[in-house]
Amino acid sequence: MSSPFPYDSLSTNELFFGRDEELERIAKIVQYSNNLLIHSKRRMGKSSLINYFLETHQDNHLSIYVDIFDITSKEDFAKSLLKALSNAQKIDLKSAVKNLTSFFKRVRVEPTIDTKTLEYSIKPIVATLSFEEMMDDFFYTLDQLSKKQPIILAIDEFQQIAAIKDVKLDSLLRKYIQQRKNISFVFLGSKRHLLTSLFAYKAPLYELATHFELQPLQIDDICDYSSRFLNIDEKLISYIYEKSDGETKMIQHILHLLYIQKRGAVTKTQIDESLKEIINSKDSSYKIVFDTLNNNQKTALKIVGKYKKGFFASSVLNEYTIKKQTLQSSVESLFKKELIDKEDDGYFIPDRTFELWVERLVE
Ligand SMILES: Nc1ncnc2c1ncn2[C@@H]1O[C@H](COP(=O)(O)OP(=O)(O)OP(=O)(O)O)[C@@H](O)[C@H]1O
Ligand SMILES: [Mg+2]
Repeated sequence: MSSPFPYDSLSTNELFFGRDEELERIAKIVQYSNNLLIHSKRRMGKSSLINYFLETHQDNHLSIYVDIFDITSKEDFAKSLLKALSNAQKIDLKSAVKNLTSFFKRVRVEPTIDTKTLEYSIKPIVATLSFEEMMDDFFYTLDQLSKKQPIILAIDEFQQIAAIKDVKLDSLLRKYIQQRKNISFVFLGSKRHLLTSLFAYKAPLYELATHFELQPLQIDDICDYSSRFLNIDEKLISYIYEKSDGETKMIQHILHLLYIQKRGAVTKTQIDESLKEIINSKDSSYKIVFDTLNNNQKTALKIVGKYKKGFFASSVLNEYTIKKQTLQSSVESLFKKELIDKEDDGYFIPDRTFELWVERLVE
């Protein structure tokens, strides 16, 4: 049974709501083939937003979306780009293959069937090609296609390029980006610190993209949309929003649980119970993560969960009987493990469910 509140998969177009201002903003930037960097805390809705935008702008653009969260080498990066490009044209398979074959100099393409969805797609064959050859083919073909129509190339989880060390992908991309006309690059990601450092002063990508931090959905939009499916008043929507700290995924998850209960007017108790259910459902996996930490790291995680910033104060150090230096190095290792993230003025736990779970430990 489907629910109108997706929370762990990208929303399809009919279930997408709100974001009017953001969509307009993206449209303005893309209209002039400028580039854009969209970042936010985790699970605010970046991927949903760009996918919705690309789908609704397909008539007059070639939209290419590539998610690089799992790349581990420069070759993976090039392959992901080629695969996304190969499947971007919304024309019949035969014409698409013909088209690509006429542009690619070295890459071969062949139709394939996705074993999961049973849908046809196009597979680039690159086994014998070097990274440079793949990149050349990709950008050459992109260039050719951009002569016919404007292109939007969205690269999601873009901070992953920083993990590729044997080649400077940012410098390389700078070269390509600067040469292009009629192409907008949209970079997305959630590790703000890593991502913004790629675009920082004097970095290769500096000033190559307009930055935009995606904020939570607007409460009015959530009210309008959810009132179509639930009997819930605005105060309680604000309560959900507050408990979720604006995280779209958690808001949607709570609304989903309320929707499947469907018991007349929603009450605050039902919301609290839904929230508890969400946190409990993650309990065993969070325990496993927690158990991998040493005692100082466990303490550091509790402190970050409780105080977020200013926690090197002696009152906090005394409360937890931990030395400043120990806390510093433990916080640093939690950051390396990606359990916590940095903001200008402190640390935070990027996953709202995990944050609430940790808060429960210190209650
Ligand atoms: N405007 C929206 N309308 C409906 N559902 C949305 C909207 N934005 C986000 N969602 C839902 O919230 C969840 C999280 O959204 P999404 O995955 O797009 O966020 P993200 O910022 O890309 O997250 P991550 O940091 O994990 O990459 C998804 O299940 C998605 O369907
Ligand atoms: Mg995403």
